[in-house]
Amino acid sequence: MTPRSIIIDCDPGHDDAVALLLALASPELDTLGITTVAGNVPLALTSRNARSIVELAGRCAVPVFAGADKPLLRPPVSAEHVHGQSGMGGVSLPEPKPALATENAVDFIIRTLCEKPAGSVTLCALGPLTNLALALMQAPEIAARLREIVLMGGACFAGGNVTPCAEFNLYADPHAAQVVFRSGATIVMLPLDVTHQVLSTRARIAAIGELGNRAGQTVAQLLSFAASTGVENYGGDAPPLHDPCVVAYLLRPDLFGGRHINVEIETGSALTMGMSVADWWSVSGRPANATFMRSVDAPGFYALLGERLARLP
Ligand code: RIB
Ligand code: CA
Repeated sequence: MTPRSIIIDCDPGHDDAVALLLALASPELDTLGITTVAGNVPLALTSRNARSIVELAGRCAVPVFAGADKPLLRPPVSAEHVHGQSGMGGVSLPEPKPALATENAVDFIIRTLCEKPAGSVTLCALGPLTNLALALMQAPEIAARLREIVLMGGACFAGGNVTPCAEFNLYADPHAAQVVFRSGATIVMLPLDVTHQVLSTRARIAAIGELGNRAGQTVAQLLSFAASTGVENYGGDAPPLHDPCVVAYLLRPDLFGGRHINVEIETGSALTMGMSVADWWSVSGRPANATFMRSVDAPGFYALLGERLARLP
């Protein structure tokens, strides 16, 4: 079967790192490039961390492109309290050997989508949507050339994780999110409503740590750090594993369930800034523009994750 061409835009970040490893371990996916954005930690660190992960995965040929170092309009926010100062709290990786590509991430996204056959490239968005919004504003025609955008972001019934009603990725750059959701591209959302069901319990972390390879050991250390901060435990004792849900959806869409609905992004109110206003009950009359996932087979997700991580060095 022909591998599915993807670009992964991310802000590593421990869950981004796990998502990258899952993608790089999966032959069903052809990662054309990894683009980085400021988010969990500043751009220099998200770019360094992405390079470290491709090296850890033994996939140094996958290029890493740095993109936006700040949101379109809003002041930058970050999440060192969740991911550690380096963005890879819990592990200490050497300076990565793979060099950063010289091309800007936004130019790479536009160029790739124009060069590859229309409808053949999927963009996986794991952080703030600044790079994708800039690409869509510079080259609106790429919206129709994208196979789909599969993104981790937003929330509905789950509430927010950075304000009472906003999820970090959309809150960090709500204007970029609004550009993306109004672009006309096909969008699949993996919101907190799904990722809060995917919890890295001690048993699950232990099973990953027992895979016996460096990738498993590193992921176990990252997830143990996340669990130790307790910041994201939301009343339980296990942190959600957000970004790998995007890659798992590409590999096993049957693990997820949702609805095609209208989603708008709040950019006016200080109180609800960055909120994804998801019309789950279709009461607004606004046209559907995204598939909002709300259910997931969490045991099936972790079985997939473990099986793929075991394939890495
Ligand atoms: O809200 C969770 C999202 O914000 C994840 O992508 C995490 O990595 C952070 O970027
Ligand atoms: Ca992320």
